[in-house]
Amino acid sequence: MEKKCINISYTEYSSINELECADRELLECAIEATSTSYAPYSSFNVGAAVRLSNGEIVSASNQENAAYPSGLCAERTALFYAHAKYPDTAVQAIALAAKQNGELTPGLVYPCGSCRQVLHESQMRAGTPIRIIAGSATKVLVLESVNDLLPFAFDNLN
Ligand code: THU
Repeated sequence: MEKKCINISYTEYSSINELECADRELLECAIEATSTSYAPYSSFNVGAAVRLSNGEIVSASNQENAAYPSGLCAERTALFYAHAKYPDTAVQAIALAAKQNGELTPGLVYPCGSCRQVLHESQMRAGTPIRIIAGSATKVLVLESVNDLLPFAFDNLN
């Protein structure tokens, strides 16, 4: 028997203004995308923005449905849209943020388990780490890789 330990690392910023330029631009796109959220059931408006290796930024938001499980999170909407539009282009980074009643949430919003799994596969396809930038009204978190978000990911690609 051997007890093992996995370390994950992340950087915490006290404001969006502290971010490096590219991360800040991406998070601003995610915040902007909250305005396209369709969330009549939760009133939780999430925006996500994906940066691709061709320089494009693809933004999207959560899309709900009266049949609740049919809706989709902002992150997966953005990732699937990006892969559908540019199937051979690597995802380099994703930013997300959420608003309630028109205001950025005070606490950070992290990608849900299903979005982490999809991010993991996007990272496998890219072959390089995907940066994750999670924003809120009070702080911003940056993770350098999906491995820091989902250390034990399912994958059958290798
Ligand atoms: N949601 C996202 O879009 N992303 C997340 O990371 C967490 C949750 C959405 C799903 C649903 O439309 C609403 O937020 C409330 O759970």
